[in-house]
Formats: sequence, C-alpha cells, structure tokens
Amino acid sequence: MMNFQGSHILSVSQLDREAIARILQVAGQMAPYALREKRCHVLDGAILNNLFFEPSTRTRVSFGAAFNLLGGFVRETVGEENSSLSKGESLFDTAQVISGYSDVIAMRHPKMHSVAEFAEGSTVPVINGGDGANEHPTQALLDLFTIQSEMAPYQKGLDNLHITLMGDLKHGRTVHSLSKLLSLYNNVKVTMISPNALQMPDNVISTLSNAGHEIVVTDKIEGNLACDVIYQTRIQQERFASKDEADLYRGHFSLNKEIYQQYCKEHTVIMHPLPRDSRPEANELDTDLNELDNLAIFRQAQNGVLVRMALFALTLGVDEKLTQYEKPVTWFTNKQARK
Ligand code: NCD
Repeated sequence: MMNFQGSHILSVSQLDREAIARILQVAGQMAPYALREKRCHVLDGAILNNLFFEPSTRTRVSFGAAFNLLGGFVRETVGEENSSLSKGESLFDTAQVISGYSDVIAMRHPKMHSVAEFAEGSTVPVINGGDGANEHPTQALLDLFTIQSEMAPYQKGLDNLHITLMGDLKHGRTVHSLSKLLSLYNNVKVTMISPNALQMPDNVISTLSNAGHEIVVTDKIEGNLACDVIYQTRIQQERFASKDEADLYRGHFSLNKEIYQQYCKEHTVIMHPLPRDSRPEANELDTDLNELDNLAIFRQAQNGVLVRMALFALTLGVDEKLTQYEKPVTWFTNKQARK
C-alpha cells in the first residue's frame, strides 16, 4: 500500500487499486463535514498554499474549501504575472521558498510536467491541480468517485463499465488521467468520440489496450452513446495556436435531450469535468439536460471537495484522526446531498 503521508500527488501512475480504494473510502468519510452536519478541525493551524498559474474555478476553490473544511488556512497566488516566476525565478526556487511558508501546496501550471519539476524543490507535499495537457490526477479521482456512486443504484461499478469519452481527447488532461486510472480495472469498454485531429494520444490508448480493454475510436455520435457513462469535454482552446483553429472543432458533438433520448441507454449518466462551454457555437451539454436525474455534473463537482479533503488528510497523515477532532455546526445550514 502506498505511503501517502508526506507524498506528492503528481500523476495517477503513482496509484494502484488499493491506494485508490483508500482515497475513495476516506473521501466518503468526509461527507458529513462537507454537508455541514459536523465540523472537523483536524488541520487547525495548517497552511495550504494554492498556486494557480492557469485559469481555474472549481479546482482552485474546492482545494481551498476542502482545506478550510478540515480547519486549515489557505493562501492563494493566482496568475503567473502576480508571482516572481514572471521575474525569471525558477520553479525550483519558488518551491523552496513557498514550501517554507506551507504545510502542503496545490499547484496548476500551463506547462506539462512543471508541477513535478516544482515538487523537486518543495519540502512539503505538492498536489498537481493540472499541468498543461498532461495530467489532472485529482479530477480523475473525483471522476472515479462519481462513477462509483452514480453506478451503485444499478449494481455496477468501475469493473465492467462502458464509458464514452467525447470531445477534445487530444488536449484534455482530465480524460488522459481518467483513462490511465480505468486501465487498473477489469473489462472496461472505452468509446472515444472526437474529431480525427483531436484523438486520444497513442500512449493513453496503449495503456488501455495493454489492460485488455475494448476500445472504439470514432468521429460519430450515432450508435456510440449506448453506454453507462458519457464523459463530455470542452474544446481546450488554450492549447490551440489560435481561437480560429479551435473554432474548427467546436460544436461537433453537442449533446442535448433529443440526442440523449435517441442514442443513450435509459440510465446513461452524463459527466463533464466542467466548465461546460455553453456558448451557442459550442453548447457541449445543452441546458435542456438539466432536468435529467442522470446529469451528474454538479454532483461530480461537489465530489471534488470530498476527494481533495481525503488527499489532504492522507498526505498530512490525519486520516485516522478525523472523528477525534469533531465539533458541532453552530450556524444555519440547509445543505443536503445533491439529488
Ligand atoms: C478541466 C481542466 O482544467 O482540465 N477543468 C477542471 O479542472 N474541472 C477541464 C477544462 O477546463 O475543460
């Protein structure tokens, strides 16, 4: 079993099934705190530094909220222009300095493998919040948590799953990390729908095929949506040379209620790492899907808090101490699990 305490979380390739099961189990234990049924102050006094050198809403805010929910303090740097990286400081030097001010660091950066480079200079655990088009391990973990909980009513799980990944599979780091994790499970079928120019990278496909999984690569929606889970993605405009180039691929695989009812199974669950691009030219997931119980996107985003709380508890070695540090909630709250 992986020793989480003091470890960086940089890539999904560090994780095996046992480690993932432990993360998802601890994430489940965080639900009462996230739902404000109780408080937990096990990280009282600890400091998270959130370093986000690329746009982010969910990942950044949920890392921060997760740390706060365990009683810790959060400091944040947003945008390279607001950091000494813009003065020519190396990632190593920045890491040496910031880790001196922190107990743990979450970082997002536009360059592939930059977070690993940063971690080499850090004296505290570093969690990768997305490094360019490479990986997004915490997103993949919250995606697995979501698949597991959404499939439970149908007596299904991560084994024997049929998932359809759709959109910009070339640049989407979330689908890269998720696919690598799915290679650890048994008998998964992965349908990959994308424009030909935006197909899944070969190394990700071979990770899945080496695991013995069935893979379908196609540029057509018709006939390819009868699956357990559809995982829609956004055209990653920031990874293209220009907006005009990204525009060539926008709007090819918009999903709406009519297409869902025509091609999906009765219980197909819809996921998306978000943000969904709702501009008319993209409209990845039409708002008419909002009325479907199987639109899991906001539950998925909420699960990000639980999974990030679990990663903090594990890397800081307090996962066995949660219940010793509970307190009542003193303010009005009407939070409940999302349906
Ligand atoms: C994703 C990302 O940043 O890779 N967003 C997220 O973290 N939930 C997906 C995206 O931006 O399209």
